[in-house]
Amino acid sequence: MKPDLQRRVQRYGWDKAAEYYENSWERQLRPAQDRMLEMADLKSGETVLETACGTGLVTERAAVAVAPGGEIIATDLSGEMTKATADRLQKTNGISRSVIRADAEALPLDDSIADAAICSLGVMYFPDPLQGFMEMHRVLKPGGRTSVVIWGERKKCGWADIFPIVEKRVASDVCPMFFQQGTGNTLEMTMVHAGFEDIRCERRDVELTYDDVETAVMAAFQGGPVALAYQKFDEETRHGAHEEYLASIAPFRNGNGYTIPGEFVFATAKKT
Ligand SMILES: C[S@@+](CC[C@H](N)C(=O)[O-])C[C@H]1O[C@@H](n2cnc3c(N)ncnc32)[C@H](O)[C@@H]1O
Repeated sequence: MKPDLQRRVQRYGWDKAAEYYENSWERQLRPAQDRMLEMADLKSGETVLETACGTGLVTERAAVAVAPGGEIIATDLSGEMTKATADRLQKTNGISRSVIRADAEALPLDDSIADAAICSLGVMYFPDPLQGFMEMHRVLKPGGRTSVVIWGERKKCGWADIFPIVEKRVASDVCPMFFQQGTGNTLEMTMVHAGFEDIRCERRDVELTYDDVETAVMAAFQGGPVALAYQKFDEETRHGAHEEYLASIAPFRNGNGYTIPGEFVFATAKKT
């Protein structure tokens, strides 16, 4: 898939996903966001760049961490997501804030302005993750640090069949490199190439719990990266895709709901 097309699929897909996102993923992503923020070790007065901020679940916590006197610069490719983050940040006091609709690979920001650059579960969607890391590196001050989390290996993510199930119904890739950075030491190598030093990576297994079938289906099809393709399916296609996805996660059935395994990869690094 051409990078520009991938960006459009992501931008307009996440616009559609925004209203379902928190009901689908807030609880499931919390452990990843907790650990990423812990590794970022944000302090009051600091300036933080966030890329792929989504609805602002991490942004709001980062804002609390840098208050008083800090600054949050939150960016995301999707207009609906940036709107949600801007709304959420209205509640926060004692910080400067800006929320910008921007591609993580081309940030409309000056060099060397941030103490920390964070990104929670965004890198998998960038057509060129190296460029995304180079942008974080550029915007960081010398001595600044980054902290990111991504999904891990495909074989450790029990929901991974959502991609081929949707892709064969649209006859194209939806998210072609989703698991690339989370495989082996790819993430670390990308960060090395972007100029980062003192890189520390860790992997953690997680369990994604869904209370019922409807929530599991909503999270997979409406609350995430395949939302644009799904929007275009007719009822029959939707039904077929649901059945196939539910068959793929059947091994993880737990009572009325599901407990689906997953893996996160965390990384921190410094700009010297
Ligand atoms: C799974 S959500 C993560 C949101 C948030 N960071 C969180 O942890 O809840 C992924 C986000 O990546 C954004 N995204 C996808 N491609 C992007 C790109 N090239 N540049 C910036 N943001 C992008 C989407 O719009 C979406 O909001």
